[in-house]
Amino acid sequence: MRDINFLTENNAKPIWHPMAHPAEMRAVPPRIIMKGEGVSVTDAEGRAVLDAVGGLWNVNLGYSCDPIKQAMATQLDALPYYSGFRGTSTGPSIELAYELTEWFAPEGMVRAFFTSGGSDSVETALRLARQFWKIRGQGDRTKFLALKKGYHGTHFGGASVNGNANFRRNYEPLLPGVFHTPAPWTYRNPFDETDPAKLAKLCARAIEDEIAFQGADTIAAFVMEPVLGAGGVIVPHESFMPMVRAICDRHEILLIADEVVTGFGRTGAWAGSRLSGTKPDFMTIAKAITSGYFPLGATLIGAKVADVFEADKTSFGAIGHGYTYSGHPVGCAAGLAALAETKRLAVNENAAARGVELGKALEALKAKHQLVGDVRYQGLMAALELVSDRAAKKPVDKKTMAAVADAAYGAGVMLRVSGNNIILSPPLVISAADVAKIADGLDAGLTAAAR
Ligand SMILES: Cc1ncc(COP(=O)(O)O)c(C=O)c1O
Repeated sequence: MRDINFLTENNAKPIWHPMAHPAEMRAVPPRIIMKGEGVSVTDAEGRAVLDAVGGLWNVNLGYSCDPIKQAMATQLDALPYYSGFRGTSTGPSIELAYELTEWFAPEGMVRAFFTSGGSDSVETALRLARQFWKIRGQGDRTKFLALKKGYHGTHFGGASVNGNANFRRNYEPLLPGVFHTPAPWTYRNPFDETDPAKLAKLCARAIEDEIAFQGADTIAAFVMEPVLGAGGVIVPHESFMPMVRAICDRHEILLIADEVVTGFGRTGAWAGSRLSGTKPDFMTIAKAITSGYFPLGATLIGAKVADVFEADKTSFGAIGHGYTYSGHPVGCAAGLAALAETKRLAVNENAAARGVELGKALEALKAKHQLVGDVRYQGLMAALELVSDRAAKKPVDKKTMAAVADAAYGAGVMLRVSGNNIILSPPLVISAADVAKIADGLDAGLTAAAR
């Protein structure tokens, strides 16, 4: 690789970064991350910081997971690539599909379709949901329902079910026939309801209302994250997802659980759906499937859907969808090793225990800092929503958000800013001391920004 001077001179010049304005990136070039070790990353200036972002919700096992690196190296030696399209398969993909369906058996997942990431997994679920209804002879069921504030990736399908205008406006018109209902977000909702259980009921009623308006026989599927991540860690009341499941059952609508963030222990449960004992018809997973060591994802398929496809005697059941890297052998080898480590270390238990400590620390920060309007957390996914006026819930400006993140970085903690939320998703292997360090970093950031 070229030297640091070259990287610094060319930073944000030949490269456009996702989710960023190219001109802004040129004006304030991003930090160049050079190394990762344990739960910390080191930048080009040699400064090591605790990564409270966990890469991007994905590096659950930290940066030094030798079993994953070894498994990838061994697989690269044996077979760096072969296609999983009709006619050929590879050992790691067969084995990982087996392990995943065992792993997500409590959710009733019986088949896996591999993808290259979360957006691919969502796209796959949407397409297979429509195909399901074509096979069943109900081809009018093409619409999708989703929650406002939901995030489902950036392909046209995913962006269409996405519930955040920032990811939609510049790319409209999106997929027709997609409709959104209110998120069970106690801090801000159209019902002015602050009781989570009552709000869950109101949001469920809004779904019923939308279904009645659209006509159930026109709707293919409802898509939701069990805990809404990128939308600002919105944690629905435990009654909400089971209510959605019951509504879907009543109207024969498929339920897609987008578990791209929540899939491998981040919430304290192995799957976000498991928090409420909900069995979806599809689950989309990615991110921590390889702990971020290789771009891989999967769409998991429930028995009801699998049976219809596999019993089909017409041409409708053939899957006209797939990616060159579906079932990439190196990715699947990484996934197998990551899954084994995930189980061995019982990272969900650590996420639950550290999550309780983190939650307490966030509540204390809210009590101390007027800037903190709301804190939300579940396991090791958390958000602090910053406001300039608590009564009016007025979001703080970009400058304030940057000031918080910069000062925290100076105190040795990497944070992620999303709108007026600070998002936390550290590796699931952090210690109690790491949680305290994250809290101290936030404290330093909030103190500096308030000045
Ligand atoms: C819930 C959810 N679904 C889908 C995606 C898209 O995944 P990817 O960025 O791997 O395409 C994300 C990414 O953050 C996500 O949080």
